[in-house]
Amino acid sequence: MIKFFFCSLIVGGIIFMVLGIRQSKSNRKLLSDFYIEDKLNVSLMRYHHILLYIFLSGYILVLIFFFLDKFHTSELITSGVFFLGAVFVFLENQLNHNSISVMKSNLDKTLRISSALEHERERLMSLNRQLVETEDVTIYALAYQAEIRDTITGNHILRTAKYVQLLVEDLMENSKYSKYITTEYKTEIVKSAPLHDIGKVGIPDKILQKEGTFTKEEFDIMKKHCLLGAQIIRKAIERLNFKSFLSIAEQMTLSHHEKWDGSGYPNGLIGENIPLSGRIMAVADVYDALRAKRQYKDPFSHKKACNIILEEKGTHFDPEIVSSFERVEDQFEQISIAFDNEDS
Ligand SMILES: [Fe+2]
Repeated sequence: MIKFFFCSLIVGGIIFMVLGIRQSKSNRKLLSDFYIEDKLNVSLMRYHHILLYIFLSGYILVLIFFFLDKFHTSELITSGVFFLGAVFVFLENQLNHNSISVMKSNLDKTLRISSALEHERERLMSLNRQLVETEDVTIYALAYQAEIRDTITGNHILRTAKYVQLLVEDLMENSKYSKYITTEYKTEIVKSAPLHDIGKVGIPDKILQKEGTFTKEEFDIMKKHCLLGAQIIRKAIERLNFKSFLSIAEQMTLSHHEKWDGSGYPNGLIGENIPLSGRIMAVADVYDALRAKRQYKDPFSHKKACNIILEEKGTHFDPEIVSSFERVEDQFEQISIAFDNEDS
């Protein structure tokens, strides 16, 4: 009975040893990537595996000699197996320790790389922000160059950009143009707005700064600022090999004096043939002109400016955009007060 119990223990040991060898093979395969350059660990893994086979052989021998009643021989083998067992445990622990060290080292490397990448990403984002801000400031500086020579002084370019933003945000939500106006379009049209009168740099001072109304000849020259502005922007576009907001800026600059009924300039475009950017700027530009003081007139009240824009719905202006203006006109008034000319 006792013999049968010992025998069962040894057979059980053999079964577990076979399973252990299979597991060891699988582990060797998994760990080989970690130890690819580590000769010590590669050797340890090999010895560890060989020991498992020796163990298995020892168990089988003990079983055989046990059946043959060779007690002394089986005891000798058992002692050897015990000794090897101690070596096996040592190797196993050493391997586990090395595995943990290698994994920790790899993890540290990964964390360092990840930290460096995060740092680089933040640096690039910061550079990108600076680039965008520099671009915005450059646009305002360019636009101001034309504006400073004009009798229309002050925050005209700043206010019109804000009016354009108000209109485009409302049109995005509440008009038939909502599918056409993407977030990217909104950003680009707002960025383009300050450049709408850039062509005035090409208009002589005596016309640009004239007090009183223009003669027909003078007005014809003044009208050229649309074409001149579009030409300036076109020159910049030709130097770029990617699509930029300047395409919208070019359209807006060329078309912001077109009228819905075709009576505008420079091309007499009708209705939706006028680029949307030009139609939006037309409302913003006229509102600002009505609210501003000129040599020939005092500033109109917000109410009067609104009435004039409403009267020209469908003649001068796109009806859809005037509807949008009606929804946000109180915010127009707030901007016109907040960014009045006194600080310029
Ligand atoms: Fe203009």
